[in-house]
Amino acid sequence: RHGLVVAIDGPAGAGKSTVAAHLARTFGLLNLETGAMYRALALKALRGDVVVTDGAAVLALTHSTTITLEPSANGNRVLLDGEDVTAALRNPDVTQAASQVSTHGPVRVWMVNSQRTLGLAAPTGVVMEGRDIGTVVFPDADVKIFLDASVEARGDRRYAQQPATESKEDLLRDMRERDKRDRERTESPLRPADDAVLVDTTGMTLDQVLERAAAIVAKVA
Ligand code: C5P
Repeated sequence: RHGLVVAIDGPAGAGKSTVAAHLARTFGLLNLETGAMYRALALKALRGDVVVTDGAAVLALTHSTTITLEPSANGNRVLLDGEDVTAALRNPDVTQAASQVSTHGPVRVWMVNSQRTLGLAAPTGVVMEGRDIGTVVFPDADVKIFLDASVEARGDRRYAQQPATESKEDLLRDMRERDKRDRERTESPLRPADDAVLVDTTGMTLDQVLERAAAIVAKVA
């Protein structure tokens, strides 16, 4: 029997990372951000002039790629073939490339296998955050939370977070595009698992969201 498995899914800007970090601290779980793995692979593709819409080419890249997530004070430190690439992963080009990379079924299989291995290796349990954790990576997770919010609220939060690299209009457009691609792709589209607890954070303060999430986990922890 492995440790507690908490799955957090939802669209961009719904608060997944903040919630996951809080739950990891509160319940002593390893926090794994799966989006960072898609971002790291996308970065490698961009650096190597691999066309991100070419599924076979991106899959070929995985054969010589190692991505490791390590806990750090705020979120994960990401190692791509041993190099710390954390700082490069929030770049808007990398963000859109990650969204493209994630549409390829065989690439997702590679990601899911790595994510299961990383998650099950956590002795005290794991809180894993992404788009398909409750539906595909850990369908038997002990807790599944699907975080959502209106597109305006999510755009506002993302805009407040980012270091003014993009205008609000550009950011909103990119976010909508990415969410649409996540929801409409044939391979593991973004959707709540049937047994997920839905939390709409639109009108909630951060403290309320954290409290609600912790209460959901406390019921089974
Ligand atoms: O969560 P984050 O914004 O870092 O994820 C970047 C992209 O990776 C998302 O837009 C999504 O397309 C993809 N992703 C995914 N499945 C996951 C995590 C992220 O498809 N489990």
